[in-house]
Amino acid sequence: TKPTHLTILNQDYPTDHKTNITPTIISKLPIRLHTQRSHPLSTIRSLIESHYPTFSHLSSFSPLVTPYQNFDSLAFPVDHPGRSVTDSYYINEGLMLRTHTSAHEVEVFAKGEDRWLLTADVYRRDEIDASHYPVFHQMEGARIFEASPSGMKEVEDDNARLASHLAKSNIVIEDIPHLSPTNPVQPLHDPKHSEAVALNLKLSLNSLLLELFGGVAGVSKEDPLRVRWIEAYFPFTSPSYEVEVFFRGKWLEILGCGVVAQSTLDSAKIANKLGWAFGLGLERMAMILFQIPDIRLFWSTDPRFLSQFSHGKITTFQPYSIHPANWKDVSFWLPHSEKQKATMHDNDFCDLVRDVVGDLVEDVKLVDQFTHPKTNRQSLCYRINYRSMDKPLTNAEVNDHQSRVKAQLKEQFRVEIR
Ligand code: PHE
Repeated sequence: TKPTHLTILNQDYPTDHKTNITPTIISKLPIRLHTQRSHPLSTIRSLIESHYPTFSHLSSFSPLVTPYQNFDSLAFPVDHPGRSVTDSYYINEGLMLRTHTSAHEVEVFAKGEDRWLLTADVYRRDEIDASHYPVFHQMEGARIFEASPSGMKEVEDDNARLASHLAKSNIVIEDIPHLSPTNPVQPLHDPKHSEAVALNLKLSLNSLLLELFGGVAGVSKEDPLRVRWIEAYFPFTSPSYEVEVFFRGKWLEILGCGVVAQSTLDSAKIANKLGWAFGLGLERMAMILFQIPDIRLFWSTDPRFLSQFSHGKITTFQPYSIHPANWKDVSFWLPHSEKQKATMHDNDFCDLVRDVVGDLVEDVKLVDQFTHPKTNRQSLCYRINYRSMDKPLTNAEVNDHQSRVKAQLKEQFRVEIR
């Protein structure tokens, strides 16, 4: 039942055994929220771009990339789980949707850019809840220096400039050492160079966070914004870090970063340089800064949402409606499979629900799972929470969505509804 070709962004592509991109996802590709004037994601993009006025500002790279661009050029191991069809969307074996903006590092560095920001929509198969959506937006930022005394002088001068700009503010930053046994310098790097570059990365991002979060409602001397640096691991940086912001009682991860792997710069044919890169989640940032409670709202075309924002300004979102939630369970037997193993991944179920009911689904949870002791068949029960951002849902509507989910489940996965 798979079509032999798919039309994506006005081009035809052959499908194959890896194809798993869905109609819902294909419909998102042309939207490019980060370029829609006065949309919160576009405002965050332009505020960050203004903070880095000497950087190139890129935002029109195609979301279709090769697995080489997305993974191999960044030293991802061949068995990395991100490569699997349960985690990423494939058009076919040779083409996929980028899962992160880092997929463009090699080509941008190879063009000779030495300081740049690149904003784009990225795609990951995931669960459904208020902070996860299969499409989101990232900004990649990078800066490279000559690996020479003059290059290092440039880093040190910039570090001095940034440190003096980081004035006292209502933000508390928890820092960690630049290098450690678990977050090591790369074998080809002089530790002094690596530390200077890591410091440049931290100072650059701290000054960005100070600027973006410093003026936000609810941040004061008594209740300062808290930012923390933690050790991280990425195949394409070392040392690596994550930055989290404390918001509404929780630490939220907003970016990953580190000193760029020398193998990435070698692929870009700039082996004599070293530098840093970061990848920042725009929705996370916007949810905090505008106080937007649900990630689906970014896709709303309701004037009650869109008319609240003006370009370049951070304002507090006023919720215009909170309609009641409607829970429905669906239980079913999976068909007998050869190895008696589940034939459906959580992410398959979530993509199916998105295709059938769109953004009316707020949350999906697997609430029960067991194997029949005699027949060995597997039973699953998922709970779907329906809630519209725009209007109350009637019982009849919810029941209708639920029966279409059941019909599609039978059709696509040959399940037996219980
Ligand atoms: N691409 C990483 C992610 O999506 C973030 C990152 C970017 C990390 C650049 C290091 C350097 O999680």
